[in-house]
Amino acid sequence: MDIPEKLSSLLARDSQSVAGVEKLRFFPLAVESGHGSHLIEVGGRKLLDFSSSWTAGGIGYGHPHVVDAISRASSNQPGAGGISAVHPYMVELAEKLLEITPGDADRRVYLGNSGTDANDVVLRSCQYATGRNRIITFSGSYHGGVGLAMGVSGVHVEAGAVASPVAAFIPFPDPYRPHTGHADTVVQDSLARLDTELAAGDVACVIVETIQSDGGIVIPPDGFLSGLRTACNKYGVILICDEVKVGLGRTGLMHAFDHESVVPDVVTFGKVLGGGLPLSAAVGPTSILDGPVASALLTTAGNPVTAAAGLAVLQVIESESLVSKSQVSGQTLLNSLKSHVSRLGVEASVGDIRGRGLTIGVDLVSDLATKSRNFDLAKRVAYRAWELGVVVYYVGGNVLEITPALTTQPVDLEVGAEIIARSIADAIDGQVTDEQIAPFVGW
Ligand SMILES: Cc1ncc(COP(=O)(O)O)c(C=O)c1O
Repeated sequence: MDIPEKLSSLLARDSQSVAGVEKLRFFPLAVESGHGSHLIEVGGRKLLDFSSSWTAGGIGYGHPHVVDAISRASSNQPGAGGISAVHPYMVELAEKLLEITPGDADRRVYLGNSGTDANDVVLRSCQYATGRNRIITFSGSYHGGVGLAMGVSGVHVEAGAVASPVAAFIPFPDPYRPHTGHADTVVQDSLARLDTELAAGDVACVIVETIQSDGGIVIPPDGFLSGLRTACNKYGVILICDEVKVGLGRTGLMHAFDHESVVPDVVTFGKVLGGGLPLSAAVGPTSILDGPVASALLTTAGNPVTAAAGLAVLQVIESESLVSKSQVSGQTLLNSLKSHVSRLGVEASVGDIRGRGLTIGVDLVSDLATKSRNFDLAKRVAYRAWELGVVVYYVGGNVLEITPALTTQPVDLEVGAEIIARSIADAIDGQVTDEQIAPFVGW
């Protein structure tokens, strides 16, 4: 595909100005606007966004209710943060999060700027509250891009980042690529290893993604989350569920941990919560989140504009029944992906299509029997999908992460499913060159 001059010129300026440490690029994407589930590329091409900006645009771009809330809060702005002055937006948002998140009455809400800081603050608060240091986490996990949250993230550590010295990594139960060799023993094995770690003592908390996303859309078998709850209860250890990517309706229930009716001690939120603005939250016991006072200070945390956006997002999720819609749309999209993959005869490269609601993974393999990850094909498919008008990224090196906005229309879900299957066929057919994908490191 020929890249228009306006697009290539912006990309060239980006390469000379914006730091590489914050780039995770898959194809030459540069956008100038967005509406609902669509992005408008520099140059005017309309793209269907099947990532929703890694779910941060999870109710669509420019939702009128969110735009209205942001405009009202910013045109008459009560300060720029919440650390030294209270304002109604942050209190209302905290109250709303307490209402929709299960747990005891005696809880508080931390409001932050990103999923990373919510997890980081919570992990440190657990250490402080318990006087214990160790943190149990999982291989293939993702909890943040800097600091302690990064140091307990399996994907970063497995890619060479320095692990936090207090982190202990346990295999995450993956029924498709079982670390034990058998899908029916993964939960038991992970829980047995957890028990050993907890018995060794000095554990402040266990942090877990309810569905592992960056690790490759891994949906743990039933019994895992409830097993974590039981083990944490047995040893008096705090259970943190990281719902930053898949929470607030995306899996077809309000919280992904609801699929096992588990009640975590602490829940972290982010991405979709901000309606496209930087906003995160952690909900947990007062005994953990109330002290020490002034130990987690980000100047713009509790910002009135982002808090107003967060409230509007939660209202939209409720008023537009996005939780149940996500369940129905997700099932339709999953079926549609399977049927297009089969119609185009590319099943030999697609090891698995799995999902829960609008969190779907298409696992690309080199060999159906060995399930070996096809990293090269993933790069080419993502590139080809962009050429054909769909934005989709991959995780775990080879799994297409399909997480469209919860508001995506059925007709667009069908169009996107067809394009993704066609991109797989075209990529296998050699329609994406080595030169085209060479500049993109991917994930
Ligand atoms: C499960 C999970 N937790 C935390 C984070 C970090 O969120 P943020 O990038 O907003 O800091 C991410 C980001 O991808 C995530 O997927």
